[in-house]
Amino acid sequence: MDFRVRSGGQISGRCRVPGDKSISHRAVMLAALAEGESRFTGFLAGADTLATAAAFRAMGVRIDGPYDGEVTVQGVGLHGLRAPSGPLDMGNAGTGMRLLAGLLAGQRFGVTLIGDESLSRRPMRRVIAPLRQMGADIGAAEGDTPPLVLRPTAQLRGIDYVLPMASAQVKSCLLLAGLYAQGRTCVTEPAPTRDHTERMLAAFGRPLQRDGARVCIDGGDTPLRATSFAIPGDISSAAFPLVAALIAGQGELLIENVGINPTRTGILDILRAMGGDIELLNLREAGTEPVADIRVRPSRLRGIAVSPELVPLAIDEFPAIAVAAACAQGETLITGAQELRVKESDRIAAIANGLTALGIAVETLPDGLRIQGGRFRGGVVESHGDHRIAMAFSLAALRADAPVRIRDCVNVGTSFPGYAEIMRGLGLAIEAA
Ligand code: S3P
Repeated sequence: MDFRVRSGGQISGRCRVPGDKSISHRAVMLAALAEGESRFTGFLAGADTLATAAAFRAMGVRIDGPYDGEVTVQGVGLHGLRAPSGPLDMGNAGTGMRLLAGLLAGQRFGVTLIGDESLSRRPMRRVIAPLRQMGADIGAAEGDTPPLVLRPTAQLRGIDYVLPMASAQVKSCLLLAGLYAQGRTCVTEPAPTRDHTERMLAAFGRPLQRDGARVCIDGGDTPLRATSFAIPGDISSAAFPLVAALIAGQGELLIENVGINPTRTGILDILRAMGGDIELLNLREAGTEPVADIRVRPSRLRGIAVSPELVPLAIDEFPAIAVAAACAQGETLITGAQELRVKESDRIAAIANGLTALGIAVETLPDGLRIQGGRFRGGVVESHGDHRIAMAFSLAALRADAPVRIRDCVNVGTSFPGYAEIMRGLGLAIEAA
């Protein structure tokens, strides 16, 4: 499936984006381990999070929905999961695989985790090494890539682990393994990363101890208590209409009900520093997370050097930020973003190839990009099967002088089902075929 986008157009009106992917994964995982019934609204019905739900169904958990975003999970308790009859297929989802690796490392049964072509290339040593330190018995394919083969172990033990990279997935993996470990499991992060796991564990009755960059969980059989909450819209999905409204010439956009957890809002800081007119309205708490409506107006953007400490807080938004940078006056410099090399695609390469194909001058760095603002010409962009690369480059058409085609966009459904329809409703001339 390709996106074909006619050039020009303005973006205006109001929209909602699908539920937060990170929170949806975690909600199913913790609800499955809880005692009692949990109910969520706003659950992301994307391929990644549906794969997580399917994995728990395969381990004997009753999950109803999502029906219009509503999911009900009958928790089986910390020790109630059953051995699945075959491998668990996590599809395209790094979050699904890495978090499940932690959660399943301490079970009394073995399990194999597999994924699609992209996930099968992604590095798993980052979770395998610390889980082995905890006593887990894990095998992987060559180069420590999936499939992951988890064999039953007697008892995990808590460790005190310093993360070698800023990764919420690795942090969360170890905290979930810590539920099953003897003693205390602590993780120290080199920079703040999304804290949805910590917030949600507290909501399920297992608060963590945080001391600066170090967060700890005590093992033991204190049960997780079922709970219910609303999952906010995903700021990582809101990034696309947001950048669209900034770079389109006219109009005003309201994106409603977006999660604005401070560990996720790096994109707002970066785009505001570039001159973006972005306002947060109607700030409120929903469930375990802060939420707001985001008002965006067309803006004259200027290039900036992105502060490296904002990188982990905007890690999934660089494809969209790169398109904004291409529309800005002057140069934008992104550094400290080497993690982009190991996302759903090598995003540094994929962004550079896409910008080059559309006539923008760009230089790749080992850990980032240098982008010269300019004018997009029409052309063909390869998404490399990466949902966020596909969505980001569809926006380039707003400022291009000829149509833009993006190849292989089917994975947009992993995080943003209905993307083309929603964006068409706002004024982007996009067709999916
Ligand atoms: C995620 C963490 C980030 C992010 C991913 C979702 C999560 O990955 O890129 O899309 O839900 O914990 P890393 O932890 O690998 O940086």
